[in-house]
Amino acid sequence: MRVDSSLGLCFIGFGNVGQGLARILVRKERELAERWGFAFRTVAVVTRTRGAAVSRDGEGLSLADLLARVERGEPVGNERISPVEAALLPQTDIVLDVTPTNLINGEPGLSLTRAALGSGRSVVSSNKGPVSLALAELKELARARGAHYRFEGSVMSGTPSLNLALESLAGCDVREVQGIVNGTTNYILTRMEEGFEYADALREAQEKGYAEADPAGDVDGWDAAVKAQILAAAVLGFPLPLDAVERTGIAAISRADVEAAAKRGKRIKLLAKAARTPDGVAASVAPAEIPLSHPLASVGGATNALTFTTDTLRDVTIIGPGAGREETGQALLSDMLAIAAAERNSVRFSVKAG
Ligand code: HSE
Repeated sequence: MRVDSSLGLCFIGFGNVGQGLARILVRKERELAERWGFAFRTVAVVTRTRGAAVSRDGEGLSLADLLARVERGEPVGNERISPVEAALLPQTDIVLDVTPTNLINGEPGLSLTRAALGSGRSVVSSNKGPVSLALAELKELARARGAHYRFEGSVMSGTPSLNLALESLAGCDVREVQGIVNGTTNYILTRMEEGFEYADALREAQEKGYAEADPAGDVDGWDAAVKAQILAAAVLGFPLPLDAVERTGIAAISRADVEAAAKRGKRIKLLAKAARTPDGVAASVAPAEIPLSHPLASVGGATNALTFTTDTLRDVTIIGPGAGREETGQALLSDMLAIAAAERNSVRFSVKAG
């Protein structure tokens, strides 16, 4: 990876999250360079339904122009290039996998992640599919090729969760992680408490960009289950197949249930958990009625919260946005900055060692 010039970014996908990231990059381009030493060029943007654009002159594409095109309902460009071809363009340093999560086969994210890491390019992702299906393989591929694979955006959008546990809590033994990890269902439950019908609340969550491409992934608990699986693998160091996560969603919960719980001084929340057991790790997702005095009861709307139970610090709880366009874009940005910093450090160390 080049470290003496700007980093070449290749967006694969340009939906809610890709556009959210692009908006942040446009708004903060100068600040990122001056304060964080992070300069970038957009090498390519490849989408499934809005065409593709490639910078052939090495100058980089204008993200502001691409956002304006999408706003007008126009394609981003008319290039014919596949996600893997774009990822492997010589100017690409970091591939941004912002394609929708596919929990069945991980595609198209899995193939492009394999290709990019296999060629020594780094991948920053908000896509849970490849993490769920192939985390160990992808981490090993990245290690072998001297590349980075980071996926903070797969859990709690830009609110630090994975990087909090792996970097800020370095040295702690995290034994259990529990909390609210799905913004859409938490938003629906909160709106139902306010008197909205389930379908109206779900539509709002879709309009705000929280819901998965197929919202069944949220309401049936799949999204929370895959996040519990990612926490088990990435934080507790214990990979589990997704079907080992016990899963109940909120589809069976009606407004009457929410109101009845409120009358009892309770609130219904969809709780995800991954915890060490004598045999390894157990993970689950299920709605639970919790008292209003419970710390998670006040976590409303698309806000998420996770409590990490550790040896040295006991409980550490983080609360923050769990979904959204720029909220998830921020996760990708923080991962990109971490990669840029790691590359600068590795150059410094190798110069010193030499
Ligand atoms: N659909 C997810 C949610 C998006 O609602 O939390 C973030 O992973």
